[in-house]
Amino acid sequence: MKYGVFLPNGSNGYVLSEALKPYLPTYEHQRKITIEAEKQGLSFALPMIKFRGFGGATGYWDHCLEPFTLIGALAAETQKLTFVPTVALLALHPVYTARLVSTLANISKGRIGLNIVTGWNQAEYSQMGLWPGKGYYESRYEYAEEYLAILNDLWSTGRCSRKSIYWDLKDCQCFPLPQYKIPIFSAGQSPAGIDFCEKHVDQRFVFGQPHMLRKLEIEHNKRKKKTYGTYLLFHMIVSDTDTKAKAIGEEIISKADKVAIANQISSASLDTSIGGTSEAHRLSLDKSLEDGNAAFNTIPVIYGSPKTVASKIEEIGGQTGADGFMFSWNNFEEGIRVFGQEILPRISKRN
Ligand SMILES: Cc1cc2nc3c(=O)[nH]c(=O)nc-3n(C[C@H](O)[C@H](O)[C@H](O)COP(=O)(O)O)c2cc1C
Repeated sequence: MKYGVFLPNGSNGYVLSEALKPYLPTYEHQRKITIEAEKQGLSFALPMIKFRGFGGATGYWDHCLEPFTLIGALAAETQKLTFVPTVALLALHPVYTARLVSTLANISKGRIGLNIVTGWNQAEYSQMGLWPGKGYYESRYEYAEEYLAILNDLWSTGRCSRKSIYWDLKDCQCFPLPQYKIPIFSAGQSPAGIDFCEKHVDQRFVFGQPHMLRKLEIEHNKRKKKTYGTYLLFHMIVSDTDTKAKAIGEEIISKADKVAIANQISSASLDTSIGGTSEAHRLSLDKSLEDGNAAFNTIPVIYGSPKTVASKIEEIGGQTGADGFMFSWNNFEEGIRVFGQEILPRISKRN
């Protein structure tokens, strides 16, 4: 079982609530978190990308450190951790991304993957004149397929000749070749996003809400052979007792940053497709901790005493056949320390 950290490189990490002190992302903070993650035996760290935040009393995600430059520095400070920077496809030409990743593969000696994000928030891209138009909600995973085909050509041969409605590459060159396989990650949750993951990625992220866990459990019991791994995404709250941990989570919901959440939901509502992340945002206001409340950015919360959280992880991992978990925390450094010292040792060795 592999464990990772969802780096808080956007302001306030993954909590939209006045219950916690707002913070801006800094390199020093990311560095401390990453070093603690490596020390406590985590396997990977994933920074996200946002070009426009959601404001509100907490200034949610109004600041965001750029993931590729961040990883260039963090890779030099670590020895074991794998990094999965996020690329927002609309914002970076695929040839530039291929070169960024092969440079990072060189710096990190192969400790690098790539998280593919098609983009669900029009305002981020239209402010730069990069939003292709309304049809993009339907075509974005075709765009992703073509983008990935270019990356794969360049990473395998250093050359690419491909003409599509998006790009026209004629004997385009990109060296050095990465000397390591680059695992592709994606987190699409909509039917088209899931289809993309099933065909093209090495690892997919799934939000760990109860209905998704049941779906994974059914698939796991059918023992259908998969070409990709599954990582579950949770926010973790640990306290001395289950009751105290739940109370911390509920206080965060009760003091939710309603303006930032309303802004996020209004952006998400432009994508009217069923079953994806946008729909989850639209429905997230009244959800429970377990179901992915808006105050936690729709990420379900795993909470309790160290013993409870360890047994929940063990049970969920066993039932779903997941390959790993990625977590966010209220206080990342402390959360990772508690995870490494009090939770990991309780999780049975067979995981
Ligand atoms: C672990 C994880 C990381 C993500 N990182 C980003 C990101 O950096 N930027 C972004 O705009 N969306 C990000 N997303 C959102 C998804 O990549 C995807 O765009 C979203 O789920 C919409 O696709 P869907 O409608 O197919 O679900 C992330 C989601 C997850 C679960």
